[in-house]
Amino acid sequence: VIPADAVSLADYQRLASKRLSAQNLAYLNGGAGSERTLRANTEAWGEASLWPRVLRKFDHADTRTTILNRRLASPLLIGPTAYHKLFHPEGEIATATAASALRTPYIVSTQASTSVEDIANQADGTPLWFQLYIQHDKDFTKQLIRRVEQAGYEAIVLTVDAPVHGIRNAEQRSGFRLSDAVEAVNLRDLPAPPQSASAFDPALLAAIPSWQDVAWLRELTTLPIFIKGILHPADAVEAIDHGADGLIVSNHGGRTLDQLPATRSALPHIVAAVEKKVPVLVDGGIRCGSDVLQALALGADAVLLGRPILHGLTTAGAAGVAHVLKLLQHELEVAMLLTGCRDLSEAPAILSHSSHF
Ligand code: FNR
Repeated sequence: VIPADAVSLADYQRLASKRLSAQNLAYLNGGAGSERTLRANTEAWGEASLWPRVLRKFDHADTRTTILNRRLASPLLIGPTAYHKLFHPEGEIATATAASALRTPYIVSTQASTSVEDIANQADGTPLWFQLYIQHDKDFTKQLIRRVEQAGYEAIVLTVDAPVHGIRNAEQRSGFRLSDAVEAVNLRDLPAPPQSASAFDPALLAAIPSWQDVAWLRELTTLPIFIKGILHPADAVEAIDHGADGLIVSNHGGRTLDQLPATRSALPHIVAAVEKKVPVLVDGGIRCGSDVLQALALGADAVLLGRPILHGLTTAGAAGVAHVLKLLQHELEVAMLLTGCRDLSEAPAILSHSSHF
């Protein structure tokens, strides 16, 4: 099932593009506007050089990391993405199978096309986190939180950077529509939102989440809360003040507003503002092991993968997702061996040699 020429994440992107309709491909790979932020996300990781140290004694490259007392074999997580059944008939069940095979934490989207309970049954003890979009109906949101608590999810990831849809020109041009067969099943019983004449109707704008809702969520659940979609250092501080247990530096994969900073550029500022009070994760444009190592060198505790997981899923289902994760893990270990990082705490030194002159 794994194509012989799939040796990198870029190969999976290429192979996936041969299998999907133009519409689904535009939904998957597209970004906001003319896609400057989307491009900047990947390009920014490529701009830095990694300064290697040689001839160090190794027994192995230790990729372990710890997030909120949970020991992970590797600093990779499956980021939340909607509607996996658009990409493979087994959808989120295939993704959960791969997550469980590699013991990789999987952040399940509010807009998953499979029920949170069915995904949990498949995950076989691998950490699952639930990505929450606070819904206009607070009681419904509360019941959804109770369901994921009951199903054994270990953390809530509150996404705060997409209160309205970004204007995705590539997707618009393609004529993308969600097919009737694919649905956000966990939102099935959500009462209809307030009727409005336009996206800027006061009733709709009033339903957009605010810091007060973070306080509400903090009261509602004892699960750790990660806030996803932080780019400004002042918001990082505010999030911690509101009880966030962790932050995810993200611009939603360049899908909301064009001209947001690349996450590579934002990360050091967030790390400085957070002062190690909570874990900092990052996503956006991470496509190879040296990107992962660089993110860790800049002070991230782990990284999330968005589109590459869906490229693997499209190409070969669970085996494809597992292979994408394996490739990245292997590339990370090779990058560590070739830069002299015996463990991830040694990564910061590879970004500069200036302290030696
Ligand atoms: C997303 N993303 C996203 N984020 C979120 O919090 N909830 C969601 O439901 C979705 N859905 C979604 C669908 C698709 C098709 C994509 C590509 C992305 C954003 C995602 O979690 C992540 O921030 C970016 O995808 C990371 O960038 P890369 O790795 O795709 O470059």
